[in-house]
Amino acid sequence: MSQNTPYKTFLPEDRIPRQWYNLRADMPELPEPLLNPGTGKPMTLQELEGVFCTELAKQELDDTSRYIDIPEPIQQFYRMYRPSPLVRAYHLERKLGTPAKIYYKYEGGNTSGSHKLNSAVPQAYYAKAQGLTSLTTETGAGQWGTALAMAAGFFEIDLTVYMVKVSYEQKPQRKGVMETFAANVIASPSDTTNVGRGILAKYPDTGGSLGCAISEAVEKAVSTPGCRYVLGSVLNQVLLHQSVIGLEAKAALDMLGEYPDIVIGCTGGGSNLGGLICAYMGDKLTGKGDAHFIAAEPASCPSFTRGVYAYDFCDTGCITPLAKMYTLGSGFIPAPNHAGGLRFHGMSPILSKLYHDGYMEARAYEQTNVFEAARMFARCEGTLPAPESSHAIRAAIDEALKCKETGEAKTILFGLSGTGYFDVMAYDRFNNGLMDDYIPTDAELQQSFDTLPKVPR
Ligand SMILES: Cc1ncc(COP(=O)(O)O)c(C=O)c1O
Repeated sequence: MSQNTPYKTFLPEDRIPRQWYNLRADMPELPEPLLNPGTGKPMTLQELEGVFCTELAKQELDDTSRYIDIPEPIQQFYRMYRPSPLVRAYHLERKLGTPAKIYYKYEGGNTSGSHKLNSAVPQAYYAKAQGLTSLTTETGAGQWGTALAMAAGFFEIDLTVYMVKVSYEQKPQRKGVMETFAANVIASPSDTTNVGRGILAKYPDTGGSLGCAISEAVEKAVSTPGCRYVLGSVLNQVLLHQSVIGLEAKAALDMLGEYPDIVIGCTGGGSNLGGLICAYMGDKLTGKGDAHFIAAEPASCPSFTRGVYAYDFCDTGCITPLAKMYTLGSGFIPAPNHAGGLRFHGMSPILSKLYHDGYMEARAYEQTNVFEAARMFARCEGTLPAPESSHAIRAAIDEALKCKETGEAKTILFGLSGTGYFDVMAYDRFNNGLMDDYIPTDAELQQSFDTLPKVPR
């Protein structure tokens, strides 16, 4: 194996971004604004402040500041676990026999195990700086809840996490970690909110969904003094914070003299993908580069590839603002056999707009196919990938195999957004041949689309 470029590239600590990059400032057409479901009018700062803390509400609405300074206490926290490594997947390349050069940006090396910490830190910091006393959130697979528990623990602010019941039962380890960082973890749906009680009355055996956990967390936040709700994906502010991934990746690839032909990220609500692609997408939007972008999503929750571009609620209980996004309908719940995250019914409005305008491709993968890629990657590269990230691995392998056929030596960058250490049960199911695929039928999706809200004018 000839290694002209190092296996791992770490930026020096002083090259960790000091500003976030706001992709909206370079978009020729902006994503549609969040709407107040009651009036049909764009959400104002004042309205958003009732749910989010003020600084984050401002970031949500800021379509023009290209760069936003990262406050020093957040930079200090970032230095505890960033920069994350950019890795050249030499062993995978050799195994595939491809002329392609494969790089991945690994965000799973912190205790929370994923990229989610990049947004958890600012969200907890701004809440504390505003004098709030508590936060609520939802978590699906547990990565976001764990990340926020770490950040809330560090900035000493109380946190209640509504964890999707199926994950709560399948991943007791996650709960243990969150509680160690002093979070209060509740299985959702629960009897602690009106929404939760309503859902339990209707579907007593439900394993829950992210949309339902969001409803409970929002209800709790707006009914508790000094409390706000924080969300780990989808929102503009979250993609802004995640821009550190893409900025670091570009700085490291620049150091190596590389520019990717293809950038691939897995996507649930879009924060990892939005963060990873931001710098190269910015280049594309401003005519400085022409990378090809691929969003990799699960076939069991195919928001981009089979969803509709429409205004929808971000939660099952229909209490959040309306977002214009690719959505499967807020009542959509992925089949219970679906492993890992990427189970949100909608997609970031920024990414939805970019996809709608033709700047990005999306592909949906069945989970057994994804786990085959994960296993190959683990054996070659010595890192157990998160099932979510493995959707991107699948796409990267497929692209590298295409290069093998055509003889092209393309440069591929993908996001390894997390570790698979908390997903051993899913690996166990896969290894024992117990994992299967479920793809929703058109009729099932239509049933969900039929419940899309009518937007008042
Ligand atoms: C490791 C990992 N990657 C990706 C995702 C998808 O979320 P998002 O689309 O917000 O990046 C998750 C969500 O749980 C995750 O845990």
